[in-house]
Amino acid sequence: MRAAVIRDGRVEVEERPDPVPGPDEVLIRVRAAGVNGADIGQRAGRYPPPPGVTDVPGLECAGETEDGERVMALLPGGGQAELAVACRAHVLRVPEHLGWEEAGGFVEVFATAHDALFTQAQLQERDRLLVNGAAGGVGVAAVQLGVAAGARVTANTRHHHDELRALGADTELEGEYDVILELVGGANLAENLGRLAHGGRISIIGVGAGARADLDYGHLMYKRARISGSTLRSRTVAEKEDVLRRLEAFMRPHAFRVPVEETFALDRAQDAYERFAAGGKLGKIVVCPSWPGVSFV
Ligand SMILES: NC(=O)c1ccc[n+]([C@@H]2O[C@H](COP(=O)([O-])OP(=O)(O)OC[C@H]3O[C@@H](n4cnc5c(N)ncnc54)[C@H](OP(=O)(O)O)[C@@H]3O)[C@@H](O)[C@H]2O)c1
Repeated sequence: MRAAVIRDGRVEVEERPDPVPGPDEVLIRVRAAGVNGADIGQRAGRYPPPPGVTDVPGLECAGETEDGERVMALLPGGGQAELAVACRAHVLRVPEHLGWEEAGGFVEVFATAHDALFTQAQLQERDRLLVNGAAGGVGVAAVQLGVAAGARVTANTRHHHDELRALGADTELEGEYDVILELVGGANLAENLGRLAHGGRISIIGVGAGARADLDYGHLMYKRARISGSTLRSRTVAEKEDVLRRLEAFMRPHAFRVPVEETFALDRAQDAYERFAAGGKLGKIVVCPSWPGVSFV
């Protein structure tokens, strides 16, 4: 199969042996795979794959199983290739309303956002939710999940205000928030604490703009605030399965969308990473292997 690989800080495409699924795994003929911050970190040499995981990047993909079923999967790596192996427990059926490109960029960001909002931060109906970094993949997922849960959602963003309002969010910051989802970095902490309601929760998921912050304990105590952080990739198979089953149950009555800013053929994976790193996008960047009958620019 052809697969993306990282060589000297660049993404190249090379021939690799087809992966062979184990007893609890499924083989997926990949139609589309999302690019994530973790891939950019892997390309830069600062986020290597965990021990025992393929060095082919790609934490999510969508495609067909050997039985022809349309699936999308959370992966420890390996999505940006013609074939990927997924743990059977980490596979979801692709909802009817999603095409391949959207499905390819769905699982990592929706699973991360769902876990951060509901399991970590205990988001409730009518809570006021602030999403910092709302125009990216996780942010757009969090906005939709929050709106679907009946929360009052504010999207904090530098771009795409109209599109985020169309998804049901306000884009003017005003008053206090019960839950703040942090997708940007430590520099936001003081402002987050200032905007947090008493008993509020800050859920830290992304630190792309810096992981250090100065914390005023007194402010934290006065607000009776809780700050939590989490990562998805480092969890056990069973823990990830739990995250996915909760997401699956929540998403069933909704038709969530994945805005795809740009799609690249697998052969142009390096360009896809460059586009992701350039910022200013809405939602996802997706790479697609070129199977017969499917063509991408
Ligand atoms: N903990 C986990 O398990 C987990 C899982 C998935 C992702 N993540 C992390 O979560 C973060 C969000 O992921 P993503 O896929 O949504 O990434 P993304 O698509 O790149 O989105 C990041 C968003 O944050 C904004 N942003 C970045 N730096 C900013 C700054 N200095 N000020 C204001 N806004 C800024 C970006 O805006 P611009 O486009 O204007 O730069 C973009 O809209 C990333 O750091 C990612 O690595 C963590």
